[in-house]
Amino acid sequence: MTVYQATVSAPVNIAVIKYWGKRDTKLILPTNSSLSVTLDQDHLRSTTTSRADESFERDILWLNGKEDPIKEGGRLATCIGEMKKLRKQYEDANPNEPKISSYRVHIASNNNFPTAAGLASSASGFAALVSSLAALYKLPSSPSELSLIARQGSGSACRSLFGGFVAWEMGSATSGTDSLAVEVAPREHWPEMQALVCVVSDKKKGTSSTSGMQRTVETSTLLQHRIREVVPKRMEQMIRAIKDKDFTTFAEVTMRDSNSFHAVALDTDPPIFYMNDVSRAIIATIVEYNRASVAAGGPVKAAYTFDAGPNAVIYALEKDMAEIIRLVCYFFPQGVSFEDPMGVFPSGVQSGV
Ligand code: PMV
Repeated sequence: MTVYQATVSAPVNIAVIKYWGKRDTKLILPTNSSLSVTLDQDHLRSTTTSRADESFERDILWLNGKEDPIKEGGRLATCIGEMKKLRKQYEDANPNEPKISSYRVHIASNNNFPTAAGLASSASGFAALVSSLAALYKLPSSPSELSLIARQGSGSACRSLFGGFVAWEMGSATSGTDSLAVEVAPREHWPEMQALVCVVSDKKKGTSSTSGMQRTVETSTLLQHRIREVVPKRMEQMIRAIKDKDFTTFAEVTMRDSNSFHAVALDTDPPIFYMNDVSRAIIATIVEYNRASVAAGGPVKAAYTFDAGPNAVIYALEKDMAEIIRLVCYFFPQGVSFEDPMGVFPSGVQSGV
């Protein structure tokens, strides 16, 4: 008996130019392009096993050991359905391949970090789901092609199909066929770049990104300025900075774009607060650290960024990371050292991209 099964893991990515707002909520087409760094290490990953079998009566997904209902017309159903369609096309083109596209699938996905705590669990989750089905179905699809499907699970997931520095081009087609992820530079291009994840809270976030974005699109006037004037220029600047390995520009654009995203959240009615007092204290610490470095004739050394939650991600070059970890541990002593692999949550810090 042949077993049709595959296991794939995918990492989270943390945007330096944030995606916030959908122009099409069903296809998940964004109101602006975005750019992220894939945190390519062991600590923040989703691992997913998919299995197809003739005897299965329905598609089932377990998330961290608990069944997650696959609602008809929902995002999980869309991603699984799109992958089955690709397999069907593959079978039609390769008549000797086993006809497994009609089989039901059982999928088990596990995150090795808190789910829905603003640590991009949906990004790694949907990227791992789509990749494991692609492996199960032996599809010859490229990461950009798979990103079109992962995008329909969770927008930011499309960027986790690549390692390194990744852009999600918003595209213009109403069908969504050009709204996909592309590689800006591979990880090896800038190996000195590291990320420090500061877990301020591992609680589930108050306002989901889906409802938050919808409210922002409906009510924020600032969003229009952000998507028309601000982000297109920043995308160009950021791509240039990455290609040139220009950390000062990378850091400045990263921090300003995080501020811009949280300003847009605040400009939403009713307002959305994702950061808390600890988040703001981390911003103040990094601002002062950079100011002191520049005042002494040195470079900008660190960049903070916050997603839809209070946790900070600090990007820095390897040479400065030990000092930054000491700084964070000094000012936030309730944190746990990143060297303690079991003690990183909550209020812990982790390093490495
Ligand atoms: O993909 P979603 O629906 O989880 O939205 C992610 C939104 C942000 O994390 C705040 C920004 C981004 O580009 O990842």
